[in-house]
Amino acid sequence: MKRALITGITGQDGSYLADLLLEKGYEVHGIVRRSSSFNTRRLDHIYRDPHDSDRRLMLHYGDVSDASRLVTLLMRIRPDEVYHLAAQSHVRVSFDEPEHTGDTTGMGTTRLLEAILMSGRDIRYYQASSSEMFGATPPPQNEQTAFHPRSPYGAAKVYSYWMTRNYREAHGMFAVNGILFNHESPRRGETFVTRKIARAAARIKAGLDRYVYLGNLDAVRDWGYAPEYVEGMWQMLQLDRPDDYVLATGVGSTVREFVEHCFAHVCLDWHDHVRHDEAYLRPAEVDALVGDASKAREEFGWSARTPVDRLAQIMVDAELEQLATKTPETWSAPPFADSRTFREHVAPAVPR
Ligand code: NAP
Ligand code: GDD
Repeated sequence: MKRALITGITGQDGSYLADLLLEKGYEVHGIVRRSSSFNTRRLDHIYRDPHDSDRRLMLHYGDVSDASRLVTLLMRIRPDEVYHLAAQSHVRVSFDEPEHTGDTTGMGTTRLLEAILMSGRDIRYYQASSSEMFGATPPPQNEQTAFHPRSPYGAAKVYSYWMTRNYREAHGMFAVNGILFNHESPRRGETFVTRKIARAAARIKAGLDRYVYLGNLDAVRDWGYAPEYVEGMWQMLQLDRPDDYVLATGVGSTVREFVEHCFAHVCLDWHDHVRHDEAYLRPAEVDALVGDASKAREEFGWSARTPVDRLAQIMVDAELEQLATKTPETWSAPPFADSRTFREHVAPAVPR
């Protein structure tokens, strides 16, 4: 039985990757941050009691800012594959917390790579690199495109990208960069724009809210469906040689178009419900990301299958279903009588 370790297992991608690896017969270990409330909601459907003898999902407390803990976990778990997904992954938040973002999204990678090296074991390593690294460089972007990050998050990911390549070149490690463009799902965090819009469309349709407040509607992103992207991560670690690969749909849409798809699906005119709030603008914006994934298609047959309008429908339907299964008490509107979530509301306006 192959053994995998996933950092960031409680996040969107970590949870889908855990689903996939369990289906493939792996023993799956995940690192979870200690939190005062449960942060394992996305794993509820695969969680098994620690007393079940045949369970194949094991969770361990740990943090990518804690090097000695990473070494201990690597020694104890002895994984065949490590998927490094943990990060402070919110671009807007990275402007508020640049140092923390550098420590986790950047230095966390070095701590983990070094722990793997110290283990002396032949471990295959996946680095969650990002299209945010391309930043201001115009599309289409592929593996040869120059990086020009536009946020502390993007800069930290560029550092991690090069550390991954360096451990491959200097130490012969099987280390790959998956350069993934935006991928979304009903498990997406509530403060990323697609989930925020899908959630708002459903809540407005249900009469729970009237407005959603958004920032830049002109930004272009290449949005795909997350479960397909974790398949690509796994495929990269099964290759004969380590390399770096873009995963993307190749189709760009504006935030406005995503809004249109979501509101049209619930038969509402978005103009009546979308308002602007400059608090959601960024000090420096990434205007357009549209990826070219032909290398992944040619070398291991990966391609995205879900178009953006279908993705919007999947996300809105999941929100509607969630509302339908909740009792009216737990439906209560958020304290701001619109679809701003508390976490986004407390973010300071720009400039700080
Ligand atoms: P996500 O939902 O925000 O998940 C991030 C995960 O990292 C969570 O499990 C989080 O734990 C964990 N984490 C954060 N700080 C940590 C720390 N100091 N120590 C240990 N764990 C920590 O992100 P995602 O969308 O699944 O993305 C996965 C990875 O791919 C990230 O590295 C992201 O930057 C990268 N990426 C994502 C996309 C995308 O479109 N989704 C595209 C390109 C690259 P909590 O649950 O406790 O917060
Ligand atoms: N979050 C958010 N909230 N974004 C908004 C809003 C809003 O109210 N209004 C407009 N936007 C715009 C942002 O300015 C950005 O141009 C776009 O919507 C997408 O924002 P996010 O969904 O927050 O994602 P991101 O593209 O910045 O970053 C995501 O994708 C990267 C890959 O390109 C994250 O998942 C990163 O971790 C990932 O690396």
